[in-house]
Amino acid sequence: MCGIVGYIGKKQAKPILINGLSRLEYRGYDSAGIATIEKSGLKVVKNKGRVNDLSNTKGINSLEGTLGIGHTRWATHGKPSSTNSHPHSDNSKNFAVVHNGIIENYSDLKEFLQAHDYTFLSETDTEVIPNLIHFYFNSSKQKDNLRFLDAVTNACKMLKGSYAIEVLSSMYPDNMIVVRKDSPLVIGKGIDENYISSDIPAILSFTKDFYLLNDNEFAFISRTSIDFYDSNLQKINKACQNITWNATAAEKDGYPDFMLKEINEQPKAIRETIGSRISKDSKTIIPDLNLNKKYLNTINKIYIVACGTAMHAGFATKPIFENLCEISVEVEAASEFRYRNPIINEKTLCLFITQSGETADTIAALKLAKSKGAKTIAISNVIGSSITREADYTVYTHAGPEIAVASTKAYTSQIVLLAIIAIYFSEILEKNSTKTIELKNDILLLPSKIEEVLKNTEQIKNFAQKIYKEKDVFFIGRGIDYSVAQEGSLKLKEISYIHSEAYPSGELKHGPIALIENDVTVISVLTNRLLVEKSVSNILEVVTRGAKTFIVTNQELNQEFDEVIKIPKTNTFISPVLSIIPLQILAYYISKEKGLDVDKPRNLAKSVTVE
Ligand code: M6R
Repeated sequence: MCGIVGYIGKKQAKPILINGLSRLEYRGYDSAGIATIEKSGLKVVKNKGRVNDLSNTKGINSLEGTLGIGHTRWATHGKPSSTNSHPHSDNSKNFAVVHNGIIENYSDLKEFLQAHDYTFLSETDTEVIPNLIHFYFNSSKQKDNLRFLDAVTNACKMLKGSYAIEVLSSMYPDNMIVVRKDSPLVIGKGIDENYISSDIPAILSFTKDFYLLNDNEFAFISRTSIDFYDSNLQKINKACQNITWNATAAEKDGYPDFMLKEINEQPKAIRETIGSRISKDSKTIIPDLNLNKKYLNTINKIYIVACGTAMHAGFATKPIFENLCEISVEVEAASEFRYRNPIINEKTLCLFITQSGETADTIAALKLAKSKGAKTIAISNVIGSSITREADYTVYTHAGPEIAVASTKAYTSQIVLLAIIAIYFSEILEKNSTKTIELKNDILLLPSKIEEVLKNTEQIKNFAQKIYKEKDVFFIGRGIDYSVAQEGSLKLKEISYIHSEAYPSGELKHGPIALIENDVTVISVLTNRLLVEKSVSNILEVVTRGAKTFIVTNQELNQEFDEVIKIPKTNTFISPVLSIIPLQILAYYISKEKGLDVDKPRNLAKSVTVE
């Protein structure tokens, strides 16, 4: 969580840092701060609140300097306050640091530094870093630039945990040092200027040439040069990558919020994720995967591991793998998987889904599976993200940057990509070709069917106006529809703060129906032709007890219900790609009706880089 940004060049750093921070605010937004080097030395301006609030913070108007660092915080250690905000300085005020991640051994390091007469102002784990740098700077035998680098590398050797760090020093007014371990950091190369950021979209309007740092790589940056070092001060070479994303992909582009834009981008996201991977008449091609029949025949278990919405994409696609490949699949939350010693060996194939590629639990789960001999495949939306450096194989969704905290287009793209991977396995294994051909054809028709669903928002908006004051909402469905109910429920609670639960429809009578009384809202997903009658009976049971109903279906229903949202028919396996959209739109309009910040819901951050 937290976003960091940096600039070194000829222009004034302040507006560039503030612009970058506002684009990174989705990563955390309880406090913000920037530091620059002025003629008189280091200057830090920081405060509790959002990036916008920085403009009212004392000292901001007079802040100058052509190099600087910035931070937007999601508090882990110490409540949001001006003192706990970043940048943090050392006791001598010669070093300033911004940090994204967690220093697990900060208490020990604090004691160590206190024993050497260092004092601390904040409750954060970060404040040990500038003081350690100062400590090692004083004891370094190196000279000139290497002395600064030596101090930072030695300080980092003491840190346990995760970090992306930017360091400024008043003694080096033309340089900054950056380093990462298990937290994201990219360097954008310009002409006579360089940029640093937690992610690519935040600085995409300035440059398209990026260096992606690996763990424990340090960059010593000036206006005109970027030198890379390992932790033993040995120089390393790195290639610059040109990113083809369009800068406007990271803008709202006329939409009031990113979430609404991203909901509407789903036809394009799916088209691009399909790309040339499948076509009607030829075999599926996934150049990033290099798995053969001999290997796939040895696999007796597939794990799909992820968090939140990405995990729901796993639930939605488990049946596709099981049906097309005849391999048993378990879907699990990464935070559980990593600590329960799952039975994994070389006959297990593990898929890890993560939009950001930075989710700490998902990365840790992948490392565990790998250490036990399983092959690992990462499904990510972010090129060069941390998980892609750990996995045996990475396959990308091409949804474009997803900025809103609530995931929408990433979810539907993940389902489509997983379906394509299942087809690919099934073709290699020479399983049921009729099913795979049908599924391929239906996947290719998805983008235009999504466009159809997106035309029907008025009815959903009206229903949102009716129910936005509710305290509890229930979502129900059977089979694949239950997985959509889970995702719909998550969407609603995260952006509207309405308590909601998802249940398999058949479970209602085993307890939850006791909660149904007059006027309670029950939202149902109903797309499986074979289960229509059973599901309708469950809906009638709640209606009899006074519930208001909102049904998303592609079936013809004989009964009258309060609100029925019709979606196009498609292959049952991929129906979640269509049935989730009305639920995304419903959550969106309920949040708007309540006057909430749709893109940045309270207490949440887009990438959960701490466990
Ligand atoms: O970046 P990831 O896909 O790994 O993120 C996983 C979850 O944190 C994420 O899906 C979260 O649940 C979303 N806010 C849901 O909308």
